[in-house]
Amino acid sequence: MSHKIQTLSGYFHEYQKSVAQPEEFWERIAESFHWRKLWDKTLDWNFDEPKVKWFANGKLNITENIFERHLYTKGDSPAIIWEANEPNEPNRIITYRELYELTNQFCHALVDNGIRKGDRVIIYMPMVPEAAIAMLACARVGAIHSVVFAGFSSTSLSDRIIDCGAKMVLTSDGNYRGSKSIPVKAVVDEAILNTPSIEKVIVLKRTFEEVVMKADRDLWWHEAVAGKSKDFTAVETDSEDMLFILYTSGSTGKPKGVVHSIGGYMVYSYYSFMNVFQYSQGDIYWCTADVGWITGHSYIVYGPLLSGATTLMFEGVPTYPNAGRFWEIIDKYKVNQFYTAPTAIRSLQAFGLEPLEPYSLQSLKVIGSVGEPINEEAWHWYHDHIGKGNCPLVDTWWQTETGGIMISALAGITPNKPAHASLPLPGIQPVIMDTEGNELTGNNVEGNLCIKFPWPGMIRTTYGDHEKCKKEYFSAYKGMYFTGDGAKRDHDGYLRILGRVDDVINVSGHRMGTAEVENAINEHPKVVESAVVGYPHEVKGQGIYAYVICDMEGRTEANLIEEIKDTVKKIIGPIAKPDMVQIVPGLPKTRSGKIMRRILRKIASGDISNLGDTSTLLNPEVVDDIIKGANLK
Ligand code: WTA
Repeated sequence: MSHKIQTLSGYFHEYQKSVAQPEEFWERIAESFHWRKLWDKTLDWNFDEPKVKWFANGKLNITENIFERHLYTKGDSPAIIWEANEPNEPNRIITYRELYELTNQFCHALVDNGIRKGDRVIIYMPMVPEAAIAMLACARVGAIHSVVFAGFSSTSLSDRIIDCGAKMVLTSDGNYRGSKSIPVKAVVDEAILNTPSIEKVIVLKRTFEEVVMKADRDLWWHEAVAGKSKDFTAVETDSEDMLFILYTSGSTGKPKGVVHSIGGYMVYSYYSFMNVFQYSQGDIYWCTADVGWITGHSYIVYGPLLSGATTLMFEGVPTYPNAGRFWEIIDKYKVNQFYTAPTAIRSLQAFGLEPLEPYSLQSLKVIGSVGEPINEEAWHWYHDHIGKGNCPLVDTWWQTETGGIMISALAGITPNKPAHASLPLPGIQPVIMDTEGNELTGNNVEGNLCIKFPWPGMIRTTYGDHEKCKKEYFSAYKGMYFTGDGAKRDHDGYLRILGRVDDVINVSGHRMGTAEVENAINEHPKVVESAVVGYPHEVKGQGIYAYVICDMEGRTEANLIEEIKDTVKKIIGPIAKPDMVQIVPGLPKTRSGKIMRRILRKIASGDISNLGDTSTLLNPEVVDDIIKGANLK
């Protein structure tokens, strides 16, 4: 089975077909999977409710398409290669057969501890193969997993548990991240103090530090699987049953549970993986994301494993024990496809070329970028020094909500152009809209990016609140999915993503809603009001700048600023900690009381030459005060 596009004309041909006859196009791909019962209707949709069903009434289990389908031919090939945080800790190479058996044993552990089809299971784990095993075992028993990035705080974790009513948490004693070891079990203990839905916690021993195990609730992973059968018959699910929930920030204060369903996600994660990376059997593929993000779901676990690929999983960080770690791993395993984020590239670029010297990087065939716009300088550094000028660099645009890569070059097949995501994948129909709701056709146009036709990997709902899904994504433009991003189609017809047009900041490729950070800041007892904006940051892409009105009585500015940063760290997690906090006497507001973020964004980015007309503000005098006190670079 291969749905790999081989030539540029092949791409145009497939693209035309996918737009002219989308159902036939996706049927042809879906048919190559193992379905226990084929679907009745390929696509049933409207973007008003919204309702999207792919392969309706098809019955399958996604893990049968990873295991049973590949076991005869790939049983002994490596499915996962795992590299530990410490370079001298032995690696693990897990074949498809071994992964199948480990998953089956863990399926028994889930079922024996009360998990049934449709139950929600939270995964709060380090980057170890057991994280993938946990996801696959949930999928195999028909449970819905929700992976929470293990850097999130106990409050963030408990919000997610409550929102989805999870019955179980899978975690570890601690996590290794570079030179640090983080006691995650303690975070879980705190998170579940007020979450009555949690019945059991299964804990993997990773750091072997002491943890408190609560009788009747907590059990060790190794004990839960001890003596369990290596066979487990996969539970039959419907194509439109939920596969997972993944929480992500939007323009509202609370993260949303983005829901993906089984059949469509399976087809799309496979198809996009094969085509964008042009994976060939036997290649070693490495994506450096964390399984806590959508990239880890689609391009460490599901896409590669559905394709029978070998996926490398790395526990650590790019700079530990030194800034050559990524390059060392590439040479060690002869990695062929390497997929990382612009932030990682920019931070490694800052170390110069010396860390690269001991390594040849000759095995690389394709390099990729994801998560945020890649600036031209980083693009060239990555292309010239990592790809040695002869690897296609795929700049892949997509989102948690899209399930898979939407706009990207296909490596070596379609042209790549610095800082341009370039062309849509077959089956994807992007459009650029003006603010009045008109589609901007032709080249050299700029506006808001929407998608006008469904694709199999798309979001189905936001967990527990379908209205929210409609409001966030399907209301701005009638009959379209609105991405929240701005985009430009250049004179050659290539798409360039310009960044978010809503109140979402992208910090090191992680999405943070400004309202979410403001809510956390406002928890500090001395804070009266706050406004958060993004500003350009050399390494992180965007940094978080917080303007805060405080009751200063009995406090100094310096310690209040530290306390405010710590409050955010405690409530959301270290990734949301503001880079800059400025205590201000007031916030610029319109006469109707709305904060003028446009002005605050300009001040934060050091661009005070043209703030526009401030005379219409309720309190124009605060603007000068803010400029005087700003941490201008
Ligand atoms: C941004 C990550 C420019 C974009 C897969 C999007 C990008 C948000 C790119 C989704 C790219 C992602 N070029 N911007 N190649 N890839 N983005 O949900 O703003 O964590 O809306 O998904 O990241 O972030 P998310």
